[in-house]
Amino acid sequence: MWQKLKNFSRKDPLIFVLAIIVIVVGATFGGLEAMHMTSTDTFCKTCHAEQRVGVRGEHFTWDKNIHSKADVSCLDCHGDPGIIGYLDAHVIAGTKSLLYQIFVSEEKIVELLTHAATDPVAAEHAAPDSACLFCHSDDVNQKLRREKLISVGIHFRNIDEVKNPTYRTSYGLASITGEPVTKGVEPNHAKHISAGLLCTNCHIGVAHGGELYNKPKMQTCFDCHDTVREKVQTVPANEDCAACHTMQKGLQEGTYVKGVDEMRWYMADLSCSDCHDSAFERPNSDKCVMCHDDSYASIMTDTQEAFAERLAEVKGKYAQLFSEREDMPMGKRALFNEYARIIRIAEMDGSKGVHNPDYLDALFTRALELTEAIDTWTAPVAEEAAAPMVQKAAAEEAPAAPAFAGNPAELMEIASAMEIINIAEKYVPEPTKPAVNFEHLAHAQKMACTECHSDPESGVLKFEVGEIKGMKNDFHEKLCIDCHTKQRVKKTCNTCHK
Ligand code: HEC
Ligand code: HEC
Ligand code: HEC
Ligand code: HEC
Ligand code: HEC
Ligand code: HEC
Ligand code: HEC
Ligand code: HEC
Ligand code: HEC
Ligand code: HEC
Ligand code: HEC
Repeated sequence: MWQKLKNFSRKDPLIFVLAIIVIVVGATFGGLEAMHMTSTDTFCKTCHAEQRVGVRGEHFTWDKNIHSKADVSCLDCHGDPGIIGYLDAHVIAGTKSLLYQIFVSEEKIVELLTHAATDPVAAEHAAPDSACLFCHSDDVNQKLRREKLISVGIHFRNIDEVKNPTYRTSYGLASITGEPVTKGVEPNHAKHISAGLLCTNCHIGVAHGGELYNKPKMQTCFDCHDTVREKVQTVPANEDCAACHTMQKGLQEGTYVKGVDEMRWYMADLSCSDCHDSAFERPNSDKCVMCHDDSYASIMTDTQEAFAERLAEVKGKYAQLFSEREDMPMGKRALFNEYARIIRIAEMDGSKGVHNPDYLDALFTRALELTEAIDTWTAPVAEEAAAPMVQKAAAEEAPAAPAFAGNPAELMEIASAMEIINIAEKYVPEPTKPAVNFEHLAHAQKMACTECHSDPESGVLKFEVGEIKGMKNDFHEKLCIDCHTKQRVKKTCNTCHK
């Protein structure tokens, strides 16, 4: 449509400009319908329509971004909150754009847009911080709601209806002016904002980077910190990884997610630089064998493979639940947010499981519990009852397995004769790990002999034991770790090798 108008405008600019003035004036003085029509993302698309990442491709990139998935539209960001901000963005900026579109060369327009896309100050001019903070903070939202006329009963933009804390908590997000981020690198927003930084100093590309989620770049942090460090002592050293990577640190300490048992990584005592040669270095398995024997290279790749499999399993229902999210009642949505957060944490950590395999595994188990709780969710009497629902769902599921009544006495007698068995003695000629002293009797008291033996009386195992070497050995894969995973029993290395 616009292309036609454009051609028309070239043929007869005067009539075209007159037509525009009529439209603009009409819209300003009561043409609400026209206002609505010219507020939609589809309208903006008439001129910002390229199907690629870059200037003129803003609709394309917005469409891929998390904000569009949450119904945050162009004018929610591009304009101050409130009626005045809306009219300003709509009429003044809109008219300017129209005139530029008609009278200014494409080259010049691209130059203007490129400036707005790369310079933090120009970017803030295009998308003011007040809009971001209206949605992402409680205090600014409440302050602006007190001080400004936000709406007059007519729905202009989604932002008109945003009331915090309700709005942001419905998405499981933090109030950034007062709280730490819910996941990822912790910048301490409050300090940077009071130091005068704009959102775009770190979040440039937040809606138009071309991805679903746009993460700030580490280089941006370092560039500025390097220049201000001398004057401001509180700026962390670039080598102080954990000052920013609180999430990675929290995962390694096994304390990052409430409601999941703490589980410290066996290498939590190492410093980040023991594996990461520099901030921009991703270690590969060569690193592992610098401290361990060769078999540890495959421990790293095995860990990452297992992580990828579990992540895929846990994400199985994600797309479907995500699409239903906007319609979920609050209690159910809180469960979804918790589930979504775990997935984001696992992905954002970036080590693909290496940083604390057992803890990440426990997080996935928790995420699966949450999907069940979401499925079986029914409106509780009071919304607050949502949290106990999860435990209830988990508790209901546990007794489903019939209680084990015990092995026959004659078999127990056999097992009693072998209380502890040193498995390595028989099967591992060249151990690289402390031998496993298997608590045979303790297991026999809790489960059927046939869980492990095809013939308990003579003690024949239910699988044939091959060569025991490295992580992919028969005891791990066919017996011990397989069952411990299913039954959610501890499986850090020193649970068995001690
Ligand atoms: C008639 C074509 C046209 C339409 C329709 C249009 N724009 Fe633009 N837009 C332009 C042109 C041309 C520019 C560059 C000149 C300027 O900065 O105004 C521009 C610039 C912008 C900028 C950068 C402004 C700055 O400060 O540098 C933003 C943001 C923007 N448009 C958003 C929108 C939104 C949101 C809509 C829908 C409500 C929209 N545009 C609809 C043509 C258009
Ligand atoms: C109308 C409200 C609204 C406005 C305005 C808004 N956002 Fe958002 N933003 C959201 C919502 C809702 C989400 C979360 C969607 C989700 O997680 O499903 C979000 C997500 C984000 C995220 C990603 C969080 C994550 O999980 O990684 C960042 C970063 C962000 N916004 C920054 C900004 C910035 C910067 C601005 C201003 C340019 C802005 N937002 C404007 C509502 C808004
Ligand atoms: C000093 C850099 C910096 C500045 C300035 C900054 N942010 Fe952030 N912001 C970050 C980092 C880093 C994250 C963590 C995300 C990650 O690891 O990818 C983040 C996360 C967020 C999130 C996600 C919060 C959550 O609960 O997970 C939102 C929303 C957000 N920022 C909005 C804003 C807004 C709005 C502004 C402007 C008022 C702003 N940020 C200014 C660096 C910054
Ligand atoms: C979450 C807030 C947000 C939403 C929603 C959003 N933008 Fe933007 N937009 C920004 C920010 C921030 C910038 C500054 C440059 C940057 O970060 O990419 C910007 C820059 C722009 C620019 C000028 C610079 C450039 O990259 O060309 C245009 C034009 C623009 N947006 C158009 C749109 C249109 C059209 C839509 C809707 C289809 C939209 N924006 C939706 C935040 C948003
Ligand atoms: C434009 C400059 C600038 C940029 C960009 C910047 N910072 Fe900072 N940062 C500062 C200043 C200034 C301080 C000191 C603030 C203070 O102590 O009041 C600081 C302090 C910090 C602190 C210490 C806060 C505390 O609790 O004492 C952390 C952590 C931090 N920055 C993280 C980040 C991250 C992460 C990024 C990149 C996403 C980033 N910064 C980008 C200027 C910047
Ligand atoms: C000033 C804050 C800050 C410090 C200090 C810092 N990082 Fe980062 N780091 C970031 C941000 C921001 C990102 C990008 C966002 C993300 O990945 O969530 C990042 C990303 C990374 C990445 C991903 C790859 C990349 O190139 O973006 C690695 C690896 C990394 N950091 C390792 C380290 C290590 C190791 C150290 C210590 C030597 C360190 N970082 C120190 C803020 C910091
Ligand atoms: C035992 C070695 C080891 C230690 C210690 C370690 N890491 Fe890693 N880290 C890795 C490995 C391996 C990867 C995954 C590299 C890959 O496969 O791309 C990784 C990945 C990362 C990534 C993600 C890179 C990306 O591309 O997104 C970040 C960020 C990171 N580590 C930060 C840290 C921080 C911060 C610390 C200290 C608190 C730390 N690491 C300690 C081994 C280690
Ligand atoms: C800087 C030396 C160093 C590097 C590099 C290193 N580790 Fe470790 N690793 C250790 C230390 C120290 C322990 C703790 C030993 C203990 O508690 O007995 C450990 C423990 C372990 C354990 C559990 C206990 C054991 O001995 O089996 C595993 C598994 C492991 N590392 C795997 C890896 C993998 C995989 C990598 C590569 C991503 C790696 N390590 C890189 C030093 C290192
Ligand atoms: C959790 C697994 C597990 C359970 C349950 C279990 N066992 Fe065992 N049992 C083992 C393992 C492992 C060995 C050592 C394998 C070997 O020596 O070949 C073993 C060894 C034995 C042996 C000696 C075999 C030999 O070749 O020396 C006998 C006999 C035996 N078990 C009987 C029983 C009986 C009877 C029960 C039930 C009351 C039982 N076990 C329950 C795992 C189990
Ligand atoms: C059929 C399931 C099953 C198999 C096979 C199995 N286990 Fe277990 N194991 C369990 C259960 C269940 C517990 C937890 C018992 C409890 O909570 O008291 C446990 C507990 C343990 C513990 C104590 C853990 C702690 O929390 O301190 C160790 C050590 C152990 N097993 C080692 C092994 C070894 C070694 C093997 C292989 C030879 C093995 N298990 C095979 C089910 C199994
Ligand atoms: C649930 C019990 C259990 C857990 C947990 C466990 N193992 Fe094992 N592992 C065994 C058993 C049983 C054997 C065979 C007997 C032996 O080696 O003592 C074995 C054998 C091995 C072997 C081959 C024999 C050798 O000494 O070289 C390696 C290597 C090994 N394990 C590494 C690990 C590492 C690394 C971890 C942690 C990531 C781990 N195991 C966790 C039970 C376990």
